Amino acid sequence: MKKIVPEPFQRLAGDVLDVYLTREEIQQRIEEMGQAISRDYDGKRPVLVGALKGVMCFMADLVREITVPVEVDFMAVSSYSTEERDRGVVRVIKDLDLPISDRHVIFVEDVIDTGLTLNYLLRSLRARSPASLEVCSLLNKTTRRLIDVPIKYVGFNMPDYFVVGYGLDHGEQYRNLPFIGILKPGILFSREKGS
Ligand code: IMP
Ligand code: MG
Repeated sequence: MKKIVPEPFQRLAGDVLDVYLTREEIQQRIEEMGQAISRDYDGKRPVLVGALKGVMCFMADLVREITVPVEVDFMAVSSYSTEERDRGVVRVIKDLDLPISDRHVIFVEDVIDTGLTLNYLLRSLRARSPASLEVCSLLNKTTRRLIDVPIKYVGFNMPDYFVVGYGLDHGEQYRNLPFIGILKPGILFSREKGS
């Protein structure tokens, strides 16, 4: 173990091979990201659009580091099957509540992997004529990218580990771990993604 799992979480984290990012490392980086966004959007009132459910912890912490007024909305997506997902087909389960035309939109993601989901969603958002559209992702898996997507704010660039915790799941488990951990390879039932 590179970093120690906090004692109360050791049972829940039994399938975690290693702690990739501690709670403190995540908080520190989000503070910096919030400062950058506050600076860039000075005088504006951006709409932060989160992709559920993986983004839940990141969004909650990020908004509290942003010092300009913001509005928050969410979209929920799910892919049909692995094959359809690889073609970039995404099913929108929950669309935005807010209109975003002429608004400054920041799309917030937990992790960008192949980029297929993001690419699909960006196209959908762009079609609604926002004044501007940028992407903010806590994690960025650079090596698995299939589609080049512009990401303005990146928390951490990372290699191809499957990670859980801090909102990220594997089969809906582990979202409540307060750190980001690498899942033991034997636990991964497939590369099929949840949300
Ligand atoms: P993409 O279309 O391949 O970029 O898929 C990104 C989505 O897959 C993310 O929003 C996550 O929901 C999920 N995902 C990708 N990598 C991981 C991971 O390591 N842990 C948990 N979910 C992941
Ligand atoms: Mg996601």
